[in-house]
Parts: sequence; C-alpha cells; structure tokens
Amino acid sequence: MTGKIIRIAIDGPGGAGKSTVAKAVARRLDIDYIDTGAMYRAIAYKFLSEGLTPDSMGESDFKSSMNKILAGSKVDYSQGITTLDGKDVSRDIRTSEISAAASAFSAIPEVREKLVRLQRDMACRRSLVMDGRDIGTNVIKDAEIKIFLTASPEERARRRYEELISKGQKVQYASILSEMKKRDHNDSSRSINPLVKAEDAILIDSSNMDVDQVVDLICSEIEKQG
Ligand code: DC
Repeated sequence: MTGKIIRIAIDGPGGAGKSTVAKAVARRLDIDYIDTGAMYRAIAYKFLSEGLTPDSMGESDFKSSMNKILAGSKVDYSQGITTLDGKDVSRDIRTSEISAAASAFSAIPEVREKLVRLQRDMACRRSLVMDGRDIGTNVIKDAEIKIFLTASPEERARRRYEELISKGQKVQYASILSEMKKRDHNDSSRSINPLVKAEDAILIDSSNMDVDQVVDLICSEIEKQG
C-alpha cells in the first residue's frame, strides 16, 4: 500500500458473506477490519444479560434503564476480537438469539448514536475495511470504495446453516431462512439508517460466486481507483 488512505465500506444483508470477504480484503491490503455488526451484537448481549426487553417493562422505564446500561457499556472491536466492558464476548454473540436481538435493538436511535460515533472514531484518518448495514450511507459517507454485497435469501440461509452446523449448533434450515427474512425486513425497513445500497456503491451479487472471486473483484475495483 502507498501512503494514501483507503476506506472500504461493505454493506449488505446478513449471511451475504460480508465479514469473510471484508477480512480477506483487509488481509490482502494489510489494513484493519472492523465488524460493526459485532458491536450491535455486543450491545444486544449486554441488554439481554441485564434482563432488558421492551416487553418486560413500560416504555419510559425501558428508555431510562436502557440509557443507564448504554452509558455504562464499553464496546470495542479490535484484531478480530469483540470486547464488552473489557471482556472478550466474540463467541457469546454468535447465537440466533443474539442475531434477532441485535436486529431489533439496532433500530433504537440511542444505540445507533453511540455505536456510529465509536465507528466514526475508528475510521478516522486510517485505511480500513468496515462492514455493516449503513457504512457507505451513513458511517463513512465519503469512503473511497463502497460495496453492496448481497445474495439470495435461500443461499444466505444455506451458508449460515452450514456455518452454525460446523460449530456444533443444532439448527434447522427452514427456521434460519425465516429468521433471515425477518431480519432483512427489520434491517431494511427501520426509520433510521436502514439497510439500502448507497447510490455510489458497487453492487455484487455473490449467489453464484465463491469468496475468492468476490475478493478478486473488490481488489480489482480498488486497483482501478489507483
Ligand atoms: O452483521 P450482523 O448480522 O452481525 O449484524 C447484526 C445486526 O446488527 C443486524 O441485524 C443489523 C445490525 N447492524 C446495523 O444495524 N448496522 C450495522 N452497521 C451493522 C449491524
């Protein structure tokens, strides 16, 4: 890499292969990778651990408990490790329960405000690959390269199913597909910073591509920009 700063924003729905591709691009370019979804997952994990759910209390109690918990929470992502209040939660946040909770809690303005601020600080004056739902449209609007990576819901569910099975989790394809469609709907229809393709993002449908092909395509786009 030359001294030029390059920030690569990769957005797309769950299971499109964003984190695998983003990690590989970062490795090739020898720059950092930030998984913003892991940060939303860490907050969801904290809320659930503290017994915070919208159904467990009235709206104003929920808001005040949530703000207290948010103010006292320290989330970080560095070198592939997600930490919450100084503790490594990288494995704890990879469950179906946390996937659904992260999608629901990420629609709350105060949660987004806190995490977007942290993510912008992380992306300040340095080269990196950052993936999520609103990186190219909101977190780094002036990213040098924007990618919108997607795949059909069936293909994404198949990949997630195989990933969880390989980790020894007992899951069913049909329920993963239906959870994925629900999450797609939540993430794309929320009022603040929904999942949408930035106008200037390059669209890649990875349904019939393997990881290396996607990484090659992104790297060739980066080279084109010089
Ligand atoms: O990428 P992921 O599946 O780990 O993300 C978990 C949830 O976090 C996802 O359903 C939506 C939310 N998210 C978000 O709203 N904005 C981001 N930049 C990243 C994730």
